[in-house]
This record gives sequence, structure tokens and C-alpha cells, in this order.
Amino acid sequence: MLKNVSLKKYNTFGIDVKADWLAEIDSVEQVLTIIDDLPDMPKLILGEGSNVLFLNDFKGIVLHNNIKGIKIVEETENDIIVDVNGGEIWHEFVMWAVKNNYGGIENLALIPGKVGTAPMQNIGAYGAEVKNVIESVYTVNMKTCEPKFFFNAACDFGYRHSVFKLPENKGKYFIHKVRFKLYKKGYRVNTTYGAIQNVLNRKNIINPSLKDVAEAVIDIRQSKLPDPKVTGNAGSFFKNPYIKIDKLKKLQETYPDMPFYPTGQKDIVKIPAGWLIDKAGWKGKRFGDAGVHHKQALVLVNYGKATGKDIKNLADKIITDIQDKYDILLQPEVNFIKS
Ligand code: FAD
Ligand code: EPU
Repeated sequence: MLKNVSLKKYNTFGIDVKADWLAEIDSVEQVLTIIDDLPDMPKLILGEGSNVLFLNDFKGIVLHNNIKGIKIVEETENDIIVDVNGGEIWHEFVMWAVKNNYGGIENLALIPGKVGTAPMQNIGAYGAEVKNVIESVYTVNMKTCEPKFFFNAACDFGYRHSVFKLPENKGKYFIHKVRFKLYKKGYRVNTTYGAIQNVLNRKNIINPSLKDVAEAVIDIRQSKLPDPKVTGNAGSFFKNPYIKIDKLKKLQETYPDMPFYPTGQKDIVKIPAGWLIDKAGWKGKRFGDAGVHHKQALVLVNYGKATGKDIKNLADKIITDIQDKYDILLQPEVNFIKS
């Protein structure tokens, strides 16, 4: 266990706070021992720290999830069931699946983070969501040490949402393993997202393989999103808001070019928050070392020495402005960590 550790390299925003303690977790048993030994110490589970914003030092122990292992449980001609331990790197799992020709997660290539965090907000990108390949999630209760198993239906997955993200469940369950079902024979890649199709057209690819799709997604992501190794960020800072179609119609009287997407819910549409923030004039703005990315207004960045509070102050200003301009309340996607 490390004492008085800087968390700068444990979060992609690069916020320089300290934790009293940090433990590298290699097994579920180790989690249980820590809960037994330190029942009253505040605990924070951390994967790659790519969706957190630290607001101050963490007075407690960080459990850095490094539980590794991929195990094929069952295989038929058509599909494969695979158990993946939570400390595996998400993108490495995607590339493992692509290499072995197992379909279902290739559109989710290059999303930062660990496998154990993927169910947390039901990671999604380029026309896919992880909920579509999750069979079940294996957890232990962080107070009682009891194991608890969630079938897909019990996870209440939605857009950037799951049961694990509910305020009452924050920090309650340690996700140590996820069971996936991936596809083999007869699987058809999903290239419905316009940007993927554009890349494939440019490369003259007519019957894309899993690898072609993953590479197209990687291309798009690298051209649009800042690399956290170069500029601190946590991807989209806010969720894309859902609004009623009546409200959209009213807003389009003032903003006729406001884009929107279907949600699958009757009379509800999704508005790209990046467009709202961009149109409101925030793109590329910088306040000290906290800023709004110059290519993607939904991404807030740390140019070096910003604190979590600097980033949060900027986010608060944006929330107020978007509320004033469009009467839409933005909800952060990033998890604020304070102790
Ligand atoms: P962390 O940031 O370490 O943790 C996030 C939260 O989950 C924290 O509250 C933490 O306490 C909790 N947690 C972590 N591990 C566990 C566990 N094992 N059990 C229980 N709770 C846990 N997300 C998308 O959905 N789509 C994208 O396209 C996307 N693009 C991104 C691009 C960039 C450049 C970046 C930096 C981020 C992006 N994200 C995206 C957000 C992020 O990658 C995902 O949310 C990812 O799943 C976070 O994983 P992590 O391991 O880094 O989580
Ligand atoms: N837009 C602007 N200006 C901007 C940014 C975006 O006008 O500065 C417009 C774009 O032109 C486009 C629309 O907004 O019409 C959507 O933009 P983009 O395709 O870049 O996607 P997004 O809605 O900003 C979402 C996810 C991403 C995911 C991509 C691809 C959320 C909150 N974000 O971004 O996820 O990778 O779609 O599927 O849903 C994340 O969650 O961290 C994340 C990066």
C-alpha cells in the first residue's frame, strides 16, 4: 500500500491531488481484506481515472483496480461467452475480440478506461453501447463483503446510465468481473454512424471486417478528441440532454439549424451538448489552465496546472449560460470526487 500518493497520473484530467493511501488491487480477496481491515476508512474505486474530476485531496484509500484475466466460458458456432476481470484495459479487450473475430464491441475501440467501469455509465460511441453485449456483472458489496450478481436486466442500463451510477449506489459495489456475449457466424458490423461510413468510403472498403470498423473508429476518435496524455481531459464533460420535441420546435424558431437525434422514446429527442456550447461561444475559451477544447466544445481540458475546482467553476459557468440561452439544464457525465 502506498502512503500520501499524488493522483496526478491516476486521472486523465491530470489533477494534482493526493490520496492518504493507494492499494493496487490484483484480486477480489484483496478487496475483501481491505474492507475487513479498514471498515471505517473512506474508499474510492478507481480504474483509469478517465471519467473523474478530483475536487480535493482524497482522505481515505484508493483501490486501483488491476484485476486481470480473460476467460472463455462457452463457445458455439454463433457466439462466445467470455468473462473479463475488471482491471483489464477496455481498449485491449476490444482489440483482443477484433483479433479473434468476435463481433459486438469494435465500435467501442479506443474508449479509455477499464472493463470493470464499462457497465458503470454503459459506455457508448459510434452507434454502439456496451449494454448490448453484457450478460451479467459480478460485484462485491463494499460494506458487507457480500457478492452480488446483476443480470443485464437488473443493471437498468440507459444512455450513460446504470443502476451503479445511482447516487445511493455510488461506491457501494466493486465491479470485479463482467460477462460478455460476443458474436461469430452471421454477425454483421454496424456502420450506420455517418462518420464511420465516410472513412470506409474514403478507403474504398465495401465489406468491412471488424478490424476495418475498429480502425475507422480509431481514426475518427484520434482526429476529434484530445489525447489525455497530451492535454488533460475526461472526454465529454456533459451528457447530451434529452428534451421534448415541442421544446425543440420552439428552440428551432430561434436556432433553425439546431441538430437533434432520435432517442427511441416517444416525443423525446437528444440534442448534442457540444453544439449548444459551441454555438454559445465557448469553444476554445480558456481561463487560466482550465479551458474548452478548440475542436470539441463538449470536452473541458486542463492545460497543465488547473485544479478540479477551476474545471468545475468553468463547468458551472457553462451550465448557467446554456440554461439562460436555451432553457436546457446540462448534466455532467464526469464523476466529481470530493472527500
Ligand atoms: P474511472 O474514471 O476510474 O471511474 C469512473 C467512476 O466509476 C468513478 O466514480 C469510480 O469510483 C467508479 N468505478 C471505477 N471502477 C469501478 C469498479 N470496478 N466498480 C465500481 N465502481 C467503479 N465514455 C463513453 O461512454 N464513450 C466515449 O466515447 C468516451 N470517450 C472518452 C474519450 C476520452 C479522451 C476520455 C478521457 C474519456 C472518454 N469516455 C468515454 C469516458 C470514460 O472513458 C468512460 O467513462 C470509462 O468507462 C471510464 O473508465 P475508468 O476505468 O477510467 O473509470
Ligand atoms: N458539435 C458542434 N460543435 C462542437 C462539438 C460538436 O457543433 O464543438 C456538433 C457536431 O457537429 C455534431 C454533434 O455536435 O453534429 C455531435 O458531435 P460528436 O459527433 O462529436 O459527438 P458528441 O455528441 O459530442 C458523443 C458522446 C461521445 C462519443 C461520440 C461518438 C456523449 C456525452 N458523448 O459525443 O462520448 O464518443 O458521441 O459516438 O454522449 C464520452 O462520453 O466521454 C464521449 C466522448
